[in-house]
Amino acid sequence: MSQIPLIDVKAQYAPLIPELEARFREILEGGQFIRGPHYWAFQEEAAAYLGVSKAVGVANGTDAIVILLDALEIGPGDEVICPAFTFYATAESIARRGATPVFVDIDPATMNVDVEDVAAKITSRTRALMPVHLFGRPAPMKELASLGVPVIEDAAQAFGAPGVAQLGIASTYSFFPTKNLFCLGDGGLVVSNDDELADRVQMLSFHGSRDKTEFDFVGYNSRLDELQAGMLRIFLGHLDEWNRGRREVAARYAELGLGELVELPQDEPGHIYHLFVCRSPERDRIRAALTEAGIASAVYYTTPLHLQPALRFLGNEPGSLPNTEHVAEENFSVPLWPGMPAEAQERVVEVVRSAVGVGARA
Ligand SMILES: Cc1ncc(COP(=O)(O)O)c(C=O)c1O
Repeated sequence: MSQIPLIDVKAQYAPLIPELEARFREILEGGQFIRGPHYWAFQEEAAAYLGVSKAVGVANGTDAIVILLDALEIGPGDEVICPAFTFYATAESIARRGATPVFVDIDPATMNVDVEDVAAKITSRTRALMPVHLFGRPAPMKELASLGVPVIEDAAQAFGAPGVAQLGIASTYSFFPTKNLFCLGDGGLVVSNDDELADRVQMLSFHGSRDKTEFDFVGYNSRLDELQAGMLRIFLGHLDEWNRGRREVAARYAELGLGELVELPQDEPGHIYHLFVCRSPERDRIRAALTEAGIASAVYYTTPLHLQPALRFLGNEPGSLPNTEHVAEENFSVPLWPGMPAEAQERVVEVVRSAVGVGARA
């Protein structure tokens, strides 16, 4: 039997290859590879799509956070509250600025930050809260925004999720090739309704300059390049259909009874399923059976960020974030991509069923 990958990005863009090739040729003929017409047009189109006033394309999602923190003058002596159950770049960016990542626990039901723990960890040094809309599920933005501290949204995994990028002072995205909106390499974006802040991000990403003649800040060389912007403009036109497709695949897993075997990600209308991350105390047995059957699976953040070697200097101890550490031991994702065939999903569920036994959670 054929293998089932975790995601199939190629299946997503395959029907678009003629259009992508035409765009590539057009850019080759234009000969403008940095800050060309597609770069500016994509910024406008992404801002309009997300319902914000400004978007700035940068080289990747990590730079998006670092440059945004720099634009906000967050650095040594400042604290930024973030989850430890997220990709390393969230906290790395804070530490890269010389600020302190202060880790909070998650709500195990949603895997997003626990608002009560966030509230408890706010101090006079807290300059920002940085929730992550994990795996495509929006963090509890209304509750976070009501805590009286500026919120920066790490939306790397949630491009197009309803309600995201509305209540924070700014949001950051990654276009890494597995994301909901992806490019064919690295890319990132900072968005905001604060035009002055976005203008500063725009300058910082361009050596702190408007024209590369006069330099107002010590900045970065971090731009979304023209080829990626050109491809992203095409992909953006398909994002709604892709995100709908992700929700359909997620709903089908529930219909097929996967929820009787393992704990499924809790659904809500805003969830756009960047990944389909389940939980089970038997995850290792399930994953072994999936591998045996030629079905890919993955686990996330098995060493949560508060226990990563590079961040040990912060002095966080094992046991300090119990929900995070527990979910790190139990989570695993099964294949999901827009348009994933029903038969492939049936096979996944069949293999999980055989691994855990019928009605294991009953
Ligand atoms: C939550 C989160 N933040 C930040 C990033 C960093 O993005 P990039 O890989 O584009 O630097 C990623 C993705 O990789 C991510 O998942």
